[in-house]
Amino acid sequence: MSQLLQEIQRRRTFAIISHPDAGKTTLTEKLLLFGGAIQTAGAVKSNKIKKHATSDFMEIERQRGISVATSVMGFEYKELQINILDTPGHQDFAEDTYRTLTAADSVIVVIDVAKGVETQTEKLVKVCRMRKTPIIVFINKLDRDGKDAQMLLDEIEQKLGLTVCPLSWNIGMGPDFKGIYDMYNKRLRLFSAHGKQEQEDTMEIKDLADPKLDENISEKQADELREEVELVEAVYPEFSVEEYRSGDLSPVFFGSAINNFGVKELLDCFIEIAPSPSPRETEQREVNAEESKFTGFVFKIHANIDPRHRDRIAFLRICSGIFERNKYYHNTRLKKKLRFSNPTAFMASKKSVVDEAFPGDIVGLYDSGNFKIGDTLTEGEDLQFIGIPSFSPELFRYIDNADPLKAKQLNKGIDQLMDEGLAQLFIRSNNNRKIIGTVGALQYDVIQYRLEHEYGASCSYEPINLHKACWISSEDSTALADFVKRQHRLMAVDKEGRDVFLAESAFSLQMIRDQNPKIEFHFTSEF
Ligand code: G4P
Repeated sequence: MSQLLQEIQRRRTFAIISHPDAGKTTLTEKLLLFGGAIQTAGAVKSNKIKKHATSDFMEIERQRGISVATSVMGFEYKELQINILDTPGHQDFAEDTYRTLTAADSVIVVIDVAKGVETQTEKLVKVCRMRKTPIIVFINKLDRDGKDAQMLLDEIEQKLGLTVCPLSWNIGMGPDFKGIYDMYNKRLRLFSAHGKQEQEDTMEIKDLADPKLDENISEKQADELREEVELVEAVYPEFSVEEYRSGDLSPVFFGSAINNFGVKELLDCFIEIAPSPSPRETEQREVNAEESKFTGFVFKIHANIDPRHRDRIAFLRICSGIFERNKYYHNTRLKKKLRFSNPTAFMASKKSVVDEAFPGDIVGLYDSGNFKIGDTLTEGEDLQFIGIPSFSPELFRYIDNADPLKAKQLNKGIDQLMDEGLAQLFIRSNNNRKIIGTVGALQYDVIQYRLEHEYGASCSYEPINLHKACWISSEDSTALADFVKRQHRLMAVDKEGRDVFLAESAFSLQMIRDQNPKIEFHFTSEF
């Protein structure tokens, strides 16, 4: 087998997603401990911007520093190279998370057993389902009282639209939590708080009728478990790796991340079933990881936190071939050859320069302002990876120059911050004013702060009452041109010059859609 094929087959690149506080950071840390990537708990600083710091952008600046280090956490486990992509927990940065998901081959969704499916989980899973990303569900905090497992699985199926297939089952919860039955490996694991996942806590019970079960948990619980497992096996579909990998079936695990309980079962099953780097779509053709020529795309750009150096780190997901240090690669948007002398790999919280990297890996490229989110690098072929859309923003403000002497700096700053994907810029057709559209209010403070500190420019905002910005298209070009003309007051163009309709309310949007059946309205920039 070629070195490339071997490296591809031993890679698993995934993201952990959850509503804030469900336990994403805790689970990440436990996984890293298994991989020996960190030695002590608490070593991973979370990328999340704590919920009580919602409008404190100094806190954001501090967190930005941390988040470079935790953007990708790589570790080796049982000879596999595992790359965990970190995603910001704060909902105002949801778009960052959506983009990071494009670089993952699968995801683990963490759900708090007491809270069930929360809003952020719903949104993120929707994005994964759009792309048919394989999903594993981890139900966390079983050491606390929570929702009944079957009700929770119903909720997951309904709210997240997933077809689930439990691979482990809980025995009680909260104070009565006794452990889990691992249905995948037919093993019983007894719960001990802050477990070290000792071998003696685990016993093989191939048949639930085995009296060993009653000896280890109460008779009542043993009977309940027998009944429940029988029911589960009757109600839920049998596990199939193919259906999981095509995004049609989601295995579910139960556990308690903080107690390191159920995590090893999750990890061991994950490495067995999770896909290695999968084929990726470009505008031109599908690219397979095994192709010998290198390709990759930029899914995230991180500005340097030191304002004296305006360089940035572009995060490149390698899709095919071998990426080599100091080799010239083609940026297909800029039609420019670029070379990287210090590509950086991320192993847990350590960074190191790499000479080569393989499909599924993420490398950080130092960039002085060339890159834009979605940029494709190849060995010469003209390709453009797709699947990194912008989402229709929900908050809008006019942005104005507050210092006439610094207009140039302001424009450059806005341009670069938009390329980083911080927010979206629209130019309104009837007055040529710049509108910044975001998914979270926090971004306005971040933009203002960064324009001032990194570009020496100052801006002011003016509120506009808009509901949504949607991209429009039509098969009928006359109808489209006519619509753009008639709706001139509510039209704008985005940074790529595409037509965007600015809806003032949900009601008016619906009315306009009904009145213009030939026009298609899109809520993501890729259609
Ligand atoms: P997040 O990244 O998804 O936002 O969640 P994080 O891991 O930070 O966990 C949120 C809170 O839930 C933390 O408590 C964490 O200790 C707790 N937690 C995680 N897993 C479990 C579990 O299995 N059982 C229980 N009972 N709690 C769990 P915190 O008090 O908010 O933070 P900290 O001070 O402990 O860090």
